[in-house]
Amino acid sequence: MKKIVIGNWKLNLDHLEAIQLLQKLNYTIEENKEEKIDIVVSPSHTSLRSIQTIIDTDKLNIKLSAQDVSQFNEGAYTGEVSSQQLSKLNVKYCIVGHSERRTEFVESDETINKKIHNLIDKDITPVICFGETLEQRNSNKYLEHITSQINSAVKGLRKDKVDNLVFAYEPIWAIGTGEVASIIDAVEVISMVKENVSEKAFYNNEKIRFIYGGSVTPDNSEEILNSEIIDGALVGGASLNVDKFVTIINSINL
Ligand code: 13P
Repeated sequence: MKKIVIGNWKLNLDHLEAIQLLQKLNYTIEENKEEKIDIVVSPSHTSLRSIQTIIDTDKLNIKLSAQDVSQFNEGAYTGEVSSQQLSKLNVKYCIVGHSERRTEFVESDETINKKIHNLIDKDITPVICFGETLEQRNSNKYLEHITSQINSAVKGLRKDKVDNLVFAYEPIWAIGTGEVASIIDAVEVISMVKENVSEKAFYNNEKIRFIYGGSVTPDNSEEILNSEIIDGALVGGASLNVDKFVTIINSINL
């Protein structure tokens, strides 16, 4: 399985700063790395057009992701951006159901499921985030919670419609905290989700990747990214620093 490393830039960088980061990233990544690893950046919506233009014009081997999409396709929904609009910008991936959106913007499982359908309709690969709070982990309810998140996310998906999917396990207590799930914790959850997803009719073994996110840095990336069970990483803070992000990418033993 080809590994994938996604830099989630979150609410950082204006479009000029985003261009600078992309260009520095492009000349720092070792040549031909992208043949073995999918390298993806996920800027704010306001930077998508600038980044897409550079990727397409200079034929960069970096792929573009959005950080969110609307549950609606068009109409009177002020402030929303549709999967159709993203697809016109050659966006290949889109993060959906990030815990920051579930918490800060009160996104429900139902809304997330609609977004996933909209993305798949436009051939954009959803990066479906899921994970538990510290409270849920400590009360041993986390596997139940995660199973319910996954089941809601994939409701109604059909194998003949789904080409690619990425599932990102992001334990909420590990996001931006410096706390990293132990490799044992991450492997336990991801193995369970893989098994659960494999029972669903839409599962295509070849095309579904299961990645980890939450305080991934050059100090822990080697163990995470070389696990046979984990197909990549969703990197927040460390992706804003090119040297750190490239060190994370390079920690994959090829
Ligand atoms: P950090 O890597 O900053 O913990 O963020 C993780 C994350 O939320 C990626 O989507």
